[in-house]
Amino acid sequence: MVSAAIMGYGTVGAGVFKVLTMNREVITGRVGEEIRVKYVLDLREFPGDPVMEVLTHDFNDILNDPEVKIVVETMGGLRPSYEFTRKALLAGKSVCTSNKELVAEHGVELREIAKEKNVNYLFEASCGGGIPIIHVLDSALTADEIDGVAGILNGTTNYILTQMMDEGQEFADALKDAQDLGYAERHPEADIEGWDACRKIAILSSLAYGKHISYKNVYTEGITNIDAVDMSYAKALKMKIRLLAASGRTEEGVWAMVAPMLVDRDNMLYHVNGVLNAVSVHGNAVGDTLFYGSGAGSLPTASAVAGDVISAARHLSRTLASDWKAEEMELMPLDDVRHAFFVRFAGTEEEAKAAFGEITPVCLPSLSGEFGFVTGVMTEKAFEEAASEKVIKRIRIA
Ligand code: HSE
Repeated sequence: MVSAAIMGYGTVGAGVFKVLTMNREVITGRVGEEIRVKYVLDLREFPGDPVMEVLTHDFNDILNDPEVKIVVETMGGLRPSYEFTRKALLAGKSVCTSNKELVAEHGVELREIAKEKNVNYLFEASCGGGIPIIHVLDSALTADEIDGVAGILNGTTNYILTQMMDEGQEFADALKDAQDLGYAERHPEADIEGWDACRKIAILSSLAYGKHISYKNVYTEGITNIDAVDMSYAKALKMKIRLLAASGRTEEGVWAMVAPMLVDRDNMLYHVNGVLNAVSVHGNAVGDTLFYGSGAGSLPTASAVAGDVISAARHLSRTLASDWKAEEMELMPLDDVRHAFFVRFAGTEEEAKAAFGEITPVCLPSLSGEFGFVTGVMTEKAFEEAASEKVIKRIRIA
């Protein structure tokens, strides 16, 4: 029997408790022994919930119990999860987490501690919910040189954008629905301003390119600026607007960014709707790959955490190898990153051509005082230099 503890009985923590209970038999078969949840740490009470039998309010119960070999951290945020995780690892316990904020901020250090102590710090659920994308980058595509990662990594924003485009729903109503469905972060700014996707692409890119990419250096734009007119232009272009988190390796270096982008039907991410997430990874041997599934929600995220618990139980005194090095990756300047841009313009076609060169106009007959156009591929810097006050908005094209 392997004893585990869960810290945080919220949406994901309760899901982990449920998965480990509901699938006890199959998990026991896979590990070779039973995984027992000995403690669940939360400040609240849960009258009538079976969790009451193992509920504690004191982290020291977990820390000081030598039987507990695996700790699940589903508290979220940085405090006290950082301190608790550090102490648990230093005490020789493996930690499995869904906390992307903590992994992006302190993941390198926590992995180092785990290595010193011959245990594991595992974070499959931190990116893409139930999609096993961390395993893909850390253990599966290890023979490839990865040159591109692009994903829809935030379920809440994908849900909002899908509802706005397909159902004509208002932004605020769609956000409220996503919150009610348990997808959104405690502070939804983290979703809609792109911060959550930023942390996820920083984690994935660190694994893909083998050096630490700080989320603080990733250019990030959210979806709060996207409106119904943009959606109408997207329809006219036969494209969809998606919040993409992407990075790539070019001859000039590695770039990474999060921004709403227009994707066309040929892009695999066009077909990803609602709360679903998808990540495409391009490797120099494997070519294009796509990983798709539920990116948020209690059980899909819990499935990823519980999978890590099983890995930790199978490797109780052996740290699994990983290629995430502490050395910092210097990203290439945003100015040098290249895209085509869709532009809403309050001027004439001649003025647009004079500024941007060859353009492809897109007109919405119902709209006066502006028109839309698509530029050729250009650097961010060239775009900024060409842009004037007549540019109402620009959306990058993936
Ligand atoms: N708020 C996140 C999302 C939860 O919407 O994707 C999963 O990380």
